[in-house]
Amino acid sequence: MRVAVLASGNGSNLQALLDAAREPSSPAVIALVVSNKATAGALARAAAAGVPTAVIAEDGQDAARLLALLAEHAIELVVLAGYLKKVPDDVVRSFRGRMLNVHPALLPAFGGAGMYGRRVHEAVLKSGAHVSGATVHLVDEQYDHGAIVAQWPVPVRSDDTAETLAARVLAVEHRLLPAVVLAFARFGAAPRADAAAAPGDPSVPLPHSLDDALAGR
Ligand code: GRF
Repeated sequence: MRVAVLASGNGSNLQALLDAAREPSSPAVIALVVSNKATAGALARAAAAGVPTAVIAEDGQDAARLLALLAEHAIELVVLAGYLKKVPDDVVRSFRGRMLNVHPALLPAFGGAGMYGRRVHEAVLKSGAHVSGATVHLVDEQYDHGAIVAQWPVPVRSDDTAETLAARVLAVEHRLLPAVVLAFARFGAAPRADAAAAPGDPSVPLPHSLDDALAGR
């Protein structure tokens, strides 16, 4: 399955995907990396892996250019890995059921417009929650709102700072996102039904455990 990754920042999630898809036998191929920032670390990681890259308008609203790029590279699955811009609705509609996002909290809590990066973990700490985690979900026309595909819990420690919690969640993101992308590639992305999969009814069989998924069991 040909995958495009959209990223705005450092690209550690992209790197996890590149590493997981590196084997020639991998069912997923990272075929394109797109950023809204010419200086994004993700672009350098893609270039180092020999993956084609592109930069779209800073506002990310260049729907026609983005759709043309995805078509030109025969993309079947789009993954938002730290992409901070709103994906134009035309693109969301064209990839309904085939666009994933990773969020560093257990949605629907601690998500939505403006909830990204450090702000998410500060809100979790302020709430007194004892558990946070990572979420991979299908993308729809609202931030962090589409059907949840997979989540993985992370304990919150009493001495956590936003940085220590972020690091613990990020380590789980690096395992959860590749597991879901490989599952989509192995079992086929969600059917292009107009209605998103019912919440709690993932459209693809999920691995019994992250280790099973990463071992391809
Ligand atoms: C991750 O925490 C992800 O959950 C959020 O943005 C961050 C991206 O980090 N959407 P990186 O650029 O993949 O290192």
